[in-house]
Amino acid sequence: MDSIAILDFGSQYAQIIARRVREAQVYCELFPWDAPIEKILALQPKGFILSGGPKSVYEEGAPHIQDFIFKTGLPILGICYGMQALTHALGGQVDSSAQREYGPAEIEALLPDSLVSNLSRVWMSHGDRITKLPDGFIALAASGNSPFAAMGDMKRKYFGVQFHPEVHHTPNGEKLLKHFVLEICGVRPTWTPASIIEESVERIRKQVGDERVLAAVSGGVDSSVAAALVHKAIGDQLVAVFVDTGLLRKNEGEQVASAFRRHLGAELLSVEASDDFLSALKGVTEPEEKRRIVGEKFIRVFEAQAKQLGQPRFLVQGTIYPDVVESSAPDRNKAEKIKTHHNVGGLPEDMQFELVEPLRYLFKDEVRAVGEALGLPEALVWRQPFPGPGLTVRCLGEVTPERAARLRAADAILLEELSRAGFLGKRSTVIRQTGSLSPVQQMVSQAFVVLLPVRSVGVMGDQRTYQEAAAIRAVTTEDFMTADWARLPQDLLAKVSNRIVNEVDGINRVVYDITSKPPATIEWE
Ligand code: XMP
Repeated sequence: MDSIAILDFGSQYAQIIARRVREAQVYCELFPWDAPIEKILALQPKGFILSGGPKSVYEEGAPHIQDFIFKTGLPILGICYGMQALTHALGGQVDSSAQREYGPAEIEALLPDSLVSNLSRVWMSHGDRITKLPDGFIALAASGNSPFAAMGDMKRKYFGVQFHPEVHHTPNGEKLLKHFVLEICGVRPTWTPASIIEESVERIRKQVGDERVLAAVSGGVDSSVAAALVHKAIGDQLVAVFVDTGLLRKNEGEQVASAFRRHLGAELLSVEASDDFLSALKGVTEPEEKRRIVGEKFIRVFEAQAKQLGQPRFLVQGTIYPDVVESSAPDRNKAEKIKTHHNVGGLPEDMQFELVEPLRYLFKDEVRAVGEALGLPEALVWRQPFPGPGLTVRCLGEVTPERAARLRAADAILLEELSRAGFLGKRSTVIRQTGSLSPVQQMVSQAFVVLLPVRSVGVMGDQRTYQEAAAIRAVTTEDFMTADWARLPQDLLAKVSNRIVNEVDGINRVVYDITSKPPATIEWE
């Protein structure tokens, strides 16, 4: 398949560049700027995109463009630092500007029909700038701050832009990237859900032959789509297992089973293990300890199942591309551990499986598109994320069967009302991406109820009550790394609060969480 290689010079936007290229139906992969030649050329790219980065080209140890890139004779597009690195390597001049330019800027295209002629508003984020173009280049656009906001060498097909076409703040920026990959690199746009499915099916068949394959399905998007793809490839050789931990949301188990049976015609083995999980959690209140117990228990339950099923050789994992690039990126991943993230369905380290990872090169939006094309129901494909340890991390204090049931009932009311008011599901995501809604109407990325181990006094029907409080958490976010609390309509909040207190035994007070992330996290534990 035709493809593009994106070289990462340490930009926070590198993955966004890759997503925009994929949105143009072109396959691409991300590499650290210093990745070995064999690795990069194994992809047989038809062009290179160089990302931005935090350094200055003159700094010691600053990333540079490896020589073999130029020797391939393929087109190159340098973005921000990528443009400066290109200039520096080809004999132009880069200098530090008096002032860092950050935020929106206007550019003026200097030629008709060039890469940048559709653009006027752009997003800048740079300290250095180009003061002399390398030989063979001409200026394609100028901004108030820079005579060379974009440059090109038409003969060699080398281009550079000082701004960031990949971010939403640059209207039509995606067209620039599309133009580069389709017109300049001559790539055919063949990366579609149908072709992704076709290619994966072939790869899975080749990998597993006629062996049996085990999959742990959690109800999350990734594990469901991964299992569905494998089922498409090998049918009944797949054994999909769903573990009911007793820590799931209302009706979750039935929904997942019905999605598999009805929509895919695949069998799903349900393992009822709630007693096991809840008794292991008895008396435990420390958040990290609760997570550890659930993760460990899951592995043991799953292990026992695998044994019963005659220990299949292969295991499906729903690993997606951001997990892969994040763990190999330079200088990143040094973030402090805030919480242990247990992915239910995570690989038990001491188990002898070969992994089948059909989503390893896909972004989340591609996983969803593939899920839809495979016929999974919208409710599953557009589900909000749900943490591996389940309701454990939303049931603060000790998780007893009674408190888990209380939380589940309150949470179901919240989701029902949000969904009825149109705040959840596919439409919400689409609208959020195009950014056409005012903040007040903004849709919700994730919403849930948290049960607090706090009792307060209330009055109901002339009777004094002394019961627990529940908090509503609803956030809007693009990437779940930062988030803001959703400005939900007050009437909607009033209705949810009223229903929870009236319908759920043991809760007499509801509060709304108005903290962003940071400083808070999305989950409470
Ligand atoms: P935090 O609370 O860290 O959550 O702001 C960010 C996102 O990750 C989800 N989350 C988890 N997902 N296992 C998971 O698979 C976990 O242990 C876990 N903890 C948090 C959370 O729901 C939010 O979407």
